[in-house]
Amino acid sequence: MKIGIIGSGYVGLVTGVCLAERGHTVVCIDKNERIIKGISVGKAHILETGLDDLLEKNLSTDRFSATTGLEAALKGAEVVFIAVGTPFDGREIDLTFVKAVCGELGAWLKGAPGYPVIVIKSTVVPTTAELTVVPLLERASGKKVGADFGVCSNPEFLREGSAVADFMNPDRIVIGGSDARSIAVLREVYEWAECPIMKTDLRTAEMVKYTSNALLPTLISFSNEIANLCEELGGVDAREVMAALHLDFRLNPVINGKRANPGILSYLEAGCGFGGSCFPKDVNAFIAFSEKYNAPLNILKQTASVNARQPIRMVDILERECRPLAGKTIAVLGLAFKPDTNDTRESPAIAITAELARRGARVVACDPAVREEFNRIPGCEKVEHVSDWRETVKGAHGAVLVTKWRHFAEITGESLAALMAAPVLLDTRRFFKKELFANMKYIGTGMGNK
Ligand code: UGA
Repeated sequence: MKIGIIGSGYVGLVTGVCLAERGHTVVCIDKNERIIKGISVGKAHILETGLDDLLEKNLSTDRFSATTGLEAALKGAEVVFIAVGTPFDGREIDLTFVKAVCGELGAWLKGAPGYPVIVIKSTVVPTTAELTVVPLLERASGKKVGADFGVCSNPEFLREGSAVADFMNPDRIVIGGSDARSIAVLREVYEWAECPIMKTDLRTAEMVKYTSNALLPTLISFSNEIANLCEELGGVDAREVMAALHLDFRLNPVINGKRANPGILSYLEAGCGFGGSCFPKDVNAFIAFSEKYNAPLNILKQTASVNARQPIRMVDILERECRPLAGKTIAVLGLAFKPDTNDTRESPAIAITAELARRGARVVACDPAVREEFNRIPGCEKVEHVSDWRETVKGAHGAVLVTKWRHFAEITGESLAALMAAPVLLDTRRFFKKELFANMKYIGTGMGNK
């Protein structure tokens, strides 16, 4: 099928390249010339496992291209995905980009033959398709949804870092449609997929996305509160408590004689809080949305407020151990919101480093994928960067592990004791084996004084 994708960020580009790999003819469109130039020569602007290889492979066929010009690129397109950003403006999601695209697409729809289907991939709150997208497209095109063109909502469930693998092997595909014909067209796009495909109306599909992105952060904040309680109580390690919880057959069934250890268990572990471009934004947008309908998502409000406090709590722990923080050097291990990405959006490392700096500490950081660009973030201007963890901890009065980058696994108590001015390690992710740090002060989140 001939497919256009508007917005070449991590969702749009991954969707485009993967659909080309699945045999469709895809054009990715973005207003940013620098991004399109890079994509056109096989250099994606995002770090995503497997993406560059797949991009290069499909560029060499006639199935994938990238451009800044919408009208010409969409000639003959049967399906057009909208994959532009929907930032949270503090009050609600900002639909500026979606609305602008609808205007342009409406103009294109005027002269488009057949029954083109516009698919909303961007994360938008329920009713956006019905109340914003459809009216804008109808007004700009003079055509009627369900008669001349279709609209679908098709949320993405991609995790950064493994977005390509997630797209190629989806756990589910949700297709919400304005009408049966649109759903049938989009179903064809996913003809290769072997997972369950749920067909719904537009607002159900939109609701599915937010509900999915509300549950996982809620599990994280729940785990963090249990860990905080264990710390205050003392003599109990939240890790042991959670390990026992993870053995509940309902969370972790036995399949073929073995525990399944499903991925959801990793969201039931204590840490320094969740980050990324999705969870924090979607949680806040969903809370604001629920209030508009007088059905406030109170649990989610707590999820957000626990998450806002958790990084500060990490600094409180460091302050307790390294008092006073003013004038001390603290080594921060990891800045990205999770390993295998250079994304620092809403990373807990931001709140941790900004708070350390506010309390007068000198912050030296080490992250294999993030460097000086981190200093553009308000509060993080003075963070110093070194590329080797040994350099980061050298002479430091405390170290804090924020991101579970694999190569930090080589750090041992001996190495820290030899290099640090005062060997104190706060392991916010319970990444290390505490036995390896018996020679020094090792504090793991939720460990209490055990
Ligand atoms: C998240 C969801 O997991 C995806 O299903 C969803 O499609 C995506 O948002 C989106 O809406 O686009 P992502 O932000 O890439 O994906 O990140 P996750 O890997 O889920 O991590 C989010 C936060 O949860 C991170 O701060 C991470 O530290 C934490 N996390 C992640 C855990 O606590 N445990 C894990 O096993 C994974």
